[in-house]
Amino acid sequence: MEPPIVLLRKNSSFLVEKFEGVLHTHHGKINLEELKQKKFGDEIKTHLGVKYRILPFNPSDFFRHFRRSATPIMPKDVGAIIVHTGLTPDSLILDAGTGSGILAAYLAYFNKYGEVVTVEKRKDFAKVARENFKLARLKNIHQIVGDVNFVADGFKKEFDLIVLDMKGDAEFIPKAKELLKTSGYIAVYNPYFEATRKVYETMVKEDFKEVESFEIIKIDLEHRRVGTRPRTKIWHTGFIVIGRKV
Ligand SMILES: C[S@@+](CC[C@H](N)C(=O)[O-])C[C@H]1O[C@@H](n2cnc3c(N)ncnc32)[C@H](O)[C@@H]1O
Repeated sequence: MEPPIVLLRKNSSFLVEKFEGVLHTHHGKINLEELKQKKFGDEIKTHLGVKYRILPFNPSDFFRHFRRSATPIMPKDVGAIIVHTGLTPDSLILDAGTGSGILAAYLAYFNKYGEVVTVEKRKDFAKVARENFKLARLKNIHQIVGDVNFVADGFKKEFDLIVLDMKGDAEFIPKAKELLKTSGYIAVYNPYFEATRKVYETMVKEDFKEVESFEIIKIDLEHRRVGTRPRTKIWHTGFIVIGRKV
C-alpha cells in the first residue's frame, strides 16, 4: 500500500500523503508510521482507541481533499457536464480557468486516453492545482499559466470539448467556436442569472446548436429519529449552458 490513502470514520475522512508523523483527529492521535504494516480495508486506531478504516484515495475524494484556491465547481455539476457533452475517453479538452483544478481533474480522469489543456491566469492558483493533479496522479493534464484570451491564439488543434468557468466567459465564446471541432461541445458554468443569459444569447448568436441552460439541484437529506428532512439550506451553486458546434 502506497500513499496517498484516506482514513475514514463515519462521515469524516483524512487524506494521508506520507506514512510518517502524527495525525491529530477529534478522536485522538494516529501514528502514521503504523500504516506501513497495514493494507487497504484494515483499521487503524487513535491513541484513544477510536478506529479509522484505511481506503485508497480515489476520484470521489478529489472534491473533498484537493487543496482550494478559487471556488471549485461542485461534483453534481461536473457530472452534468460530462453526460450532457457526451464526453468520450479519448477527447482533447480545453478548460479555462483552472482554479483549484477540480473540473480539470475529473475531466482528465474520465478522459483516460485523451488530454486536458487547462489555462489559469493566476500563478499561485496554478501552483495549487498542480499539486492537486500530482496528488491524483493525473498525467494527461497540461497546465498553462496565462490569460486564455491570449493563450488561445497559439492553439492549432481542434478541441472536442471546451469548458469555461471564468469571468469573461461570454466574450470568449466566438474564439471557442473557432477552436472546436465540428460536433464539439462548449459548456459554460456561471453562478449568475444575468451572465448566464448573456452566455446563452452569445451561443445562439454564434450559431451553436442544441443550446440549453439549466441548473442541477442537489438537496441532501438528514435522516433523524423523528423523521427525514432536507439538510441543504442553500441549493444554488451555478448554471450550466451547453451548446454544440455543427
Ligand atoms: C471559479 S474558478 C474555476 C474553478 C475550477 N473550475 C475548479 O473546478 O476548481 C475561476 C478561475 O478562472 C481564472 N480566470 C479568470 N479569467 C481568466 C482568464 N481570462 N484566463 C485564465 N484564467 C482565468 C481565475 O483566476 C480563477 O482561478
